[in-house]
Amino acid sequence: MKNTVATMLKQKQSGEKITMLTAYDYTTARIEDECGVNSILVGDSLGMTMLGYDTTLPVTMEDMIHHTKAVSRGAENAFVVADMPFMSYQTNVYDAVVNAGRLIKEGGASAVKLEGGAEVCEQIRAIVDSSIPVVAHLGLTPQSVNAFGGFRVQGKTYDRAKQILEDAMKIQEAGAFAVVLECIPAKLAAVISRKLLIPTIGIGAGKGCDGQVLVLQDMLGLTTGHTPKFAKVFSDAGETFRKGFKAYIEEVQNGNFPSEEHTFTIDDSIIEKLQEE
Ligand code: KIV
Repeated sequence: MKNTVATMLKQKQSGEKITMLTAYDYTTARIEDECGVNSILVGDSLGMTMLGYDTTLPVTMEDMIHHTKAVSRGAENAFVVADMPFMSYQTNVYDAVVNAGRLIKEGGASAVKLEGGAEVCEQIRAIVDSSIPVVAHLGLTPQSVNAFGGFRVQGKTYDRAKQILEDAMKIQEAGAFAVVLECIPAKLAAVISRKLLIPTIGIGAGKGCDGQVLVLQDMLGLTTGHTPKFAKVFSDAGETFRKGFKAYIEEVQNGNFPSEEHTFTIDDSIIEKLQEE
């Protein structure tokens, strides 16, 4: 069954958890879709996972459209959300609407996600008024890494927790249909989830959220370097890849690959004739 905004709101009301995973290419999107994930996020985390940057800041609209197109082709039933990259919406409302429109029109996404609270409510309102569903993103918002001074848990003090809660109420009021809560204390996320009518999707925000999202590379053991505390490895694909690559190198080098079963044949008489010429 095709997942929509309405499906996710219904899931919040019935208490059925929403599942979201990132994907950045056709093949992975197709597998996630076949497995029944509710929503696929083409996260700007692709800057790190696909393009090898240290942060999400260098990601461009062209990068996002390129990967969103591929994911959209692989997602039959999953609801595709595309991230708006750094400086594609912070500048002004006009840029926000135009760039959100490109992710829908050219990328084939069904919704866009952008980071921030009160300061981006005007943008959220204008995008929603253009009939584009918006997912907000609060807590640790990676595009603000320089302002935060690193990737760290947010909302641990009264003032910051209150600000995140107030921002959540504001983005709901502005028309966002869901919000990602990243890296905030579980009890704060649970309070926000109870107060909001729209679904909360947590990453490092505990089980009180209405749904969960994980970065594909983290949950499949493909992340190199630092893995965040909240990133559970559900299946070690990194190990599977390594085994496959090493076996391939060994078999090519020792001559076991390609064998008869992976080789095409031709009538010997043709070869003999060719050799006589
Ligand atoms: O870019 C991304 O993958 C995200 C998730 C961390 C929610 O925004």
